[in-house]
Amino acid sequence: MLDRMQLGDVARKHHIQLRGQGGELRFEECFTRDGFDGPYTIMYHLRRPHTQRVAKAEHGWAAPVAAAERPLAKRHYKTWELAQKGGPQIDARVALHFNGDLIAGVAFPTAPDPVYVVDGDADELVYIHKGGGTLRSQLGDVTFAHGDYVFVPRGLLHRFLPDASPQHWLWFSLSGGLHIPKQWRNEVGQLRMDAPYSERDFKRPQLRAPYDENIRNAVVRRDGRWHGFTLEDSPLDIVGWDGAVYPWAFPILAFQPRVSSVHLPPTWHGTFAARGALICSFVPRLVDFHPEAIPCPYPHSSTHCDEIIFYCEGNFTSRKGVSSGSVSHHPMGIPHGPHPGAYEKSIGTTRTDELAVMCDTFQPLLATQASLAIEDPGYHDSFI
Ligand SMILES: [Fe+2]
Repeated sequence: MLDRMQLGDVARKHHIQLRGQGGELRFEECFTRDGFDGPYTIMYHLRRPHTQRVAKAEHGWAAPVAAAERPLAKRHYKTWELAQKGGPQIDARVALHFNGDLIAGVAFPTAPDPVYVVDGDADELVYIHKGGGTLRSQLGDVTFAHGDYVFVPRGLLHRFLPDASPQHWLWFSLSGGLHIPKQWRNEVGQLRMDAPYSERDFKRPQLRAPYDENIRNAVVRRDGRWHGFTLEDSPLDIVGWDGAVYPWAFPILAFQPRVSSVHLPPTWHGTFAARGALICSFVPRLVDFHPEAIPCPYPHSSTHCDEIIFYCEGNFTSRKGVSSGSVSHHPMGIPHGPHPGAYEKSIGTTRTDELAVMCDTFQPLLATQASLAIEDPGYHDSFI
């Protein structure tokens, strides 16, 4: 969660009356996390926010289904070869990996969500590898572009409106919630001066006066299943809100990379944390400058982590045979590192233009059945 924001009209004190110009009472909605102990936002509605009728769920992405057990191996998936579902993202998402903390996948949406979406299970983080558009939410619109991470807090009513350009998204569903890594905060919760980004780098929601898109259907994910509801009126009826829980977008290139005399571990690229996961941004940067430095990442046995990397752009220093849109999965239990020759070849280089999103998880990841169709079978042996 970020710093407190305030948009539109709010009461001068929590839980007291807020009225419109004609004296109409507004309806408060306290949108809280961790019970009532965590970050929260308070919204003011024109109407009561809790009047949904149960209906049939007409939309919703499919829950991940594990592939049959396979030998432990380093794996590579070519996401651009996936049979692209198209349509709205609520139906177009395809899960590739999952564990008890998160689901990770890709989507190639071609249409706006036709219903409102509430994810009652997880925070959402979407990396826009290609495309752009608008995230519409009760707390306002967030515009996003190629190279942005888009965050939607668990429980927030929203819908995605991709623009007309080709879209290729990487998404994470984080059931333990996303947060800024603790090491980037100071004692009052502000981003530290030496954090790799500041509050100014985030694209925040813009709130319009209450309006009606004539959409009366919503789907809610709860315990992995989609549930349908019909709404009595437009849910975009908020006159104001304040708090620390809201959607945002963050451009990956706003991440300020660290460089040392010798190679720094991925922790320094940590951008967002979640229960059981750390999401890192590898952005173009100068490389290690010790006279005897080896800029390529060292082979490593991170014995408590599975690692997936989504390769965005540029020439990835340590890997061959991966392309823009590749996903590699290197599991705990066996060491991994650069491809043959890459370690030696990196000596004397001064910069890297790689752009990639990495996710380290602390529970093993399962591959889904959908991932099998796009696997590169020769990847594991390409390191020999
Ligand atoms: Fe690694």
